[in-house]
Amino acid sequence: MYYGADYYPEHWPKERWAEDARLMKEANINVVRLAEFAWAKLEPAEGHYDFSWLDEAIDILGKEGIKAVIGTPTATPPKWLVDKYPDIYMKDRYGHVRGFGSRRHYCYNSPVYHEYTKRIVSKIAKRYGVNENVIAWQIDNEFGCQDTGQCYCENCQLAFREWLKERYGSLENLNRAWGTVFWSQTYNDWDEIILPYYTVCEDSDHRFHGHNPGLLLDFYRFSSDSVVSYQKLQVDLIREFASQPITHNLMGHFPEIDYFKLGKDLDFVSWDNYPRNQWRIDGSDFREVAMAHDLMRGVKDKGFWVMEQQSGPCGWSVMGRTPKPGQLRLWTYQAVAHGAEAIVYFRWRTCAFGAEEYWYGILDHDGIPRRRYGEVQKTGKELQAISDIIVGSRVVSETAIIKSYDNLWSHRIQPHSTGFDYNTLLMSYYKGLINNNINTDVISIDHDLDRYKVVFMPAFNLVKEDIIEKIEEYVKNGGNLVLTFRSGSRNWDNSMRTDTLPGGFRKLAGIEVEEFDSLNQDCEGITGIMGDGTAITWCDILKPNGAGVLAVYASGYYRGSAAITVNTFGKGKVYYVGCGLDQKSLDKLIESIAGEAEVGQVLPWKTEGVEAVKKEKDGKPYIMVLNHNPVPVIVDTGGNYTDLLTGGKINNKLELEPYGVSVLV
Ligand code: GAL
Repeated sequence: MYYGADYYPEHWPKERWAEDARLMKEANINVVRLAEFAWAKLEPAEGHYDFSWLDEAIDILGKEGIKAVIGTPTATPPKWLVDKYPDIYMKDRYGHVRGFGSRRHYCYNSPVYHEYTKRIVSKIAKRYGVNENVIAWQIDNEFGCQDTGQCYCENCQLAFREWLKERYGSLENLNRAWGTVFWSQTYNDWDEIILPYYTVCEDSDHRFHGHNPGLLLDFYRFSSDSVVSYQKLQVDLIREFASQPITHNLMGHFPEIDYFKLGKDLDFVSWDNYPRNQWRIDGSDFREVAMAHDLMRGVKDKGFWVMEQQSGPCGWSVMGRTPKPGQLRLWTYQAVAHGAEAIVYFRWRTCAFGAEEYWYGILDHDGIPRRRYGEVQKTGKELQAISDIIVGSRVVSETAIIKSYDNLWSHRIQPHSTGFDYNTLLMSYYKGLINNNINTDVISIDHDLDRYKVVFMPAFNLVKEDIIEKIEEYVKNGGNLVLTFRSGSRNWDNSMRTDTLPGGFRKLAGIEVEEFDSLNQDCEGITGIMGDGTAITWCDILKPNGAGVLAVYASGYYRGSAAITVNTFGKGKVYYVGCGLDQKSLDKLIESIAGEAEVGQVLPWKTEGVEAVKKEKDGKPYIMVLNHNPVPVIVDTGGNYTDLLTGGKINNKLELEPYGVSVLV
């Protein structure tokens, strides 16, 4: 398996490169990612290319058996280029130019930038498409990072109109879909349509300015599609000149790009994983990271790479806590458990200059191997020993959570309630599953559903007929579907449906929503199958229409009304959860739904802070057990196993050290 580091030879004297390669080899590193920000080094002046340094670096690394992934350098257009064509810059919603000084300062729709992208990418692809030490390509770097998912420049304005023409065919259709009769917004000419610039209104999060929800959702879609097309432009060029597989480094839960669409043009997905940094000083909940891994696997329904894995304390102006002994190894195994087939640490050596002087890599500024190097080295050795069961393995899951970017955006535009966030709701269901030791896939609505015993489809608000038909079919054939509040109430164009709630899902759920209550930060009581609990965020007051009642509200004027129901539909069941739930109640509800559907648990215990993932390679199962606690734990395995990492026998009880890991067969 590939195991490596992000390496920037251009930041260090040439005399050091051979020493770096030697130290890498000793650390079991066999791949590096190179050059993704090096445009100004590769083309210092227009038309003057210099690949000699990169050739030499690849050569030195190659001699130690270290392969390279080359990044196209388009995340950092050089100064000579943007000075010549300021038109390349992004603009914000106030029309301000987002200028030079950082990175990602280009617009995805700039025709000039497309031209220069083609030139540099084809040059690089021709040169390294035939290099046997180059094994893959990374397009650009983290599309959308640093708030660069949406641009408001004149090029985008023109491209948006073209995108709308394609989508709606006629202005009449567009006016109808957006409901422009409201507030006299009717458009008589395509050229009248504008991007959602700043208006007389501004939302408290400075994101929306009183614009039409149909236009806003289309702007989100258009912006995401613009990234997908820009990536495709590069993918097509590379394929013309090179045969190595192509990836892009995604950002886990990042909300502005439809990763299911972005992933289609790639050969494999990779992503960047920093559980603990300046912006997550206390560290991410391990379940958040687990879900991000599962989403990344779900993008192409196959194994992925981590292209940047945290390897030290990190931040730009202040730093997050230093990874404790064992944590780098634990995070690496967590990635592998969820489907990573290659790990690349960011970065090899901490840079002595630039915005990331504090973003520590495997080596400190002084380049001397210390504790973190030792941990990377040890982990690499262990992984190589079990690589045959890692690469090409699959996670065994009988449940899935459906994630929809269209719905995410609609909810971002109008979150319904101050306590509501679509990703957080999905996460609470994910946590409910992991807390019950149940593996899950995170998939798009286009994915085949038949292989799952239970499908969770939280707050799927926008619907269209083919989606309704698809899930009706799934349930009819014996599937179990879980719907929640704020489902089925809107059309795909973001207008409200006028049928009784839950609109498109009324028949399936066998209920009607009589009334609802947007709780915001308040809460109400609930009691039922999960015991006594708390309803948060939102309460749908349900009238069963064939469905059975699983829980009722225990307070408020709707005390005694149905809150959670279950309906038999064909051979399957539809659960409707009318409110947000405290995590403990949700865990219990999920336990009961999964139990009814006979979903298997990975291990029969529940230990706080311990995660277990069941995998399979060539029909042979194994279980990865991860202790995220800073203290040792004893895990009840409910059976006898062998630990592949130590060779030790486990008789019902597995002892794990702080941040310890075990692979059970
Ligand atoms: C990632 C990015 C890297 C580096 C790192 C640390 O987002 O891809 O280039 O910037 O974060 O900030």
